Amino acid sequence: MSHNIEGKVVVITGASSGLGEATARLLSAQGATVVLGARRADRLQALVDTLTAQGGKALALPTDVTQCAQVQCLVDAAVEQFGRVDVILNNAGLMPHSPLERLKITDWDRMIDVNIKGVLYGIAAALPHMQRQKSGHIINVSSVAGHKVRPGSAVYAATKHAVLALSEGLRQEVKPYNIRTTVLSPGAVQTELVDSITEPDIATAVRQIYEMAISPDAFARVVAFAMAQPDDVDINEILFRPTRQEL
Ligand SMILES: NC(=O)c1ccc[n+]([C@@H]2O[C@H](COP(=O)([O-])OP(=O)(O)OC[C@H]3O[C@@H](n4cnc5c(N)ncnc54)[C@H](OP(=O)(O)O)[C@@H]3O)[C@@H](O)[C@H]2O)c1
Repeated sequence: MSHNIEGKVVVITGASSGLGEATARLLSAQGATVVLGARRADRLQALVDTLTAQGGKALALPTDVTQCAQVQCLVDAAVEQFGRVDVILNNAGLMPHSPLERLKITDWDRMIDVNIKGVLYGIAAALPHMQRQKSGHIINVSSVAGHKVRPGSAVYAATKHAVLALSEGLRQEVKPYNIRTTVLSPGAVQTELVDSITEPDIATAVRQIYEMAISPDAFARVVAFAMAQPDDVDINEILFRPTRQEL
């Protein structure tokens, strides 16, 4: 089903590791042009060099998604270099779990800034181009935590519930422009996400839960599935987990 992937210009935020990196690798192998944003410029450039050496088309732009102008530059670079933006994967995120009573306000602010505002800035950057093109696909990353709240995950879950709400509102509003919208809600996937937990005891507990986490390639395949559908088919929401995940 790679016919609707080849030749597409795909912007990916949070492409320096985990789900974003795996998706960049898979889509590039299937003939997409990938435009990659994250803060760690060295990791992004190494990935671009690898994809280019394999015959792919890729561009890296250091991007902090909490800065609206930087996200705009990332999407504009895709349009300037490759003529259009077909897909944006608003993927950058972090998950510093902790009980509310520990008052980790800096962590709360970072989650709101990256997980919610970063997604909004991605939408703001891509939407005018896609409206003009009368085509496009906006893919946002929520989580199982966008569906379920547990002690210690309240703020992260709130940000991922917000991504679900934004995605549903967006879905309804962009119909006149022939733009597709997808929100993906993964369960535990083996990435660097747990490293964003700042409380050592919580990090240890979450690492144990993540022993059954699945490969980021599973996420990349889900993105490819949504993209590869014919243009008149809009995969709006996918929730998936490791087979062994109870929550
Ligand atoms: N892994 C899971 O189990 C899981 C489950 C459900 C949902 N998710 C969601 O999946 C997404 C990707 O996470 P992951 O699991 O792949 O974790 P990861 O390996 O830690 O990757 C997170 C990515 O986000 C980027 N990022 C963080 N802050 C950023 C900022 N201010 N500006 C730009 N990029 C930023 C990081 O790049 P830099 O540090 O280089 O900026 C990195 O590329 C997140 O939204 C996460 O909530 C993950």
